[in-house]
Amino acid sequence: MKKLLALVIAFVVVGSGVAIAHQPVVLLNSDTTAAKGPLLVDGTVSFAVRASFAKAGEKKAFRAQLKEGDALEIQYLIIDKKPENALKMTQLPSLVVTGPGGFKLTMKLNERTKFFEQFTQTNYWYLGRYSGMAKAGIYSFVLTGRGKSAITLGVGDREVPGEVVRGAYVAPTVSASPTPVVTPTPAGYTMAQVKANNTAKSCWSVIDGYVYNLTNWINSHPGGSGAILFLCGTDGTNAFKAQHENQSKPAVRLDTYRLGPLNK
Ligand code: HEM
Repeated sequence: MKKLLALVIAFVVVGSGVAIAHQPVVLLNSDTTAAKGPLLVDGTVSFAVRASFAKAGEKKAFRAQLKEGDALEIQYLIIDKKPENALKMTQLPSLVVTGPGGFKLTMKLNERTKFFEQFTQTNYWYLGRYSGMAKAGIYSFVLTGRGKSAITLGVGDREVPGEVVRGAYVAPTVSASPTPVVTPTPAGYTMAQVKANNTAKSCWSVIDGYVYNLTNWINSHPGGSGAILFLCGTDGTNAFKAQHENQSKPAVRLDTYRLGPLNK
């Protein structure tokens, strides 16, 4: 199994302030479906996803994880160079985004706005943009080539370091942070206790008023470790329901990790 954790941090100091450029993520030829492609663990972080196509029909895809009410920001750009800048909109790769709650977006390429990206000193064209509000869950981005071309998708707008996961997640080694010792009160657990267990080494989450220890599920989850890591130390009710409401297998599995009720 190929394991790769890429923590890409690209920042440039400009004048007195610090600016962080869109973090680059390059889609590989093997990223032919969203499940095979990389996962942007927090889709509100600013990423620049690059995809190049050799011929029509080729697919490249990735995923971005969002929480309820997060901003879903997508920008479709090309670099101002041949062949892309000479192609018609209909000759460029199509982008279809699907997400929780039946969300489906076919990106409209309806603008041509110049954009000079100062960090790499590159001229781009904006060809399309989308802004919306996300539901909790994983959004899939699927690009289909229509000929030789390369494009860049901007996702997210928060200029902070982000995390990209491929395949199984390799938990980062957390130094000098002992697993919190927890003594449950007879009545149950507190939110403070849940919040203290917010790492891959000890991952608790609340779902529908109960506390679960999901640590051992992180690396076994068919939907990827990122989805579970996202819940560590939080109330994961919305995220779990958005993805798995009315599904028996996730509910049965979840039951096996139950610690007890959350104290109100
Ligand atoms: C906290 C608890 C969770 C549990 C116990 C859980 C459990 C499961 C189980 C048992 C499956 C396999 C279902 C089957 O074979 O029919 C599954 C699949 C999946 N889960 Fe979760 N899940 C959890 C959270 C999440 C969250 C928060 C997300 C998304 C944000 C998510 C995304 C997915 C996806 C996309 C799949 C399908 C993977 C595939 O078929 O390739 N899960 N999960």
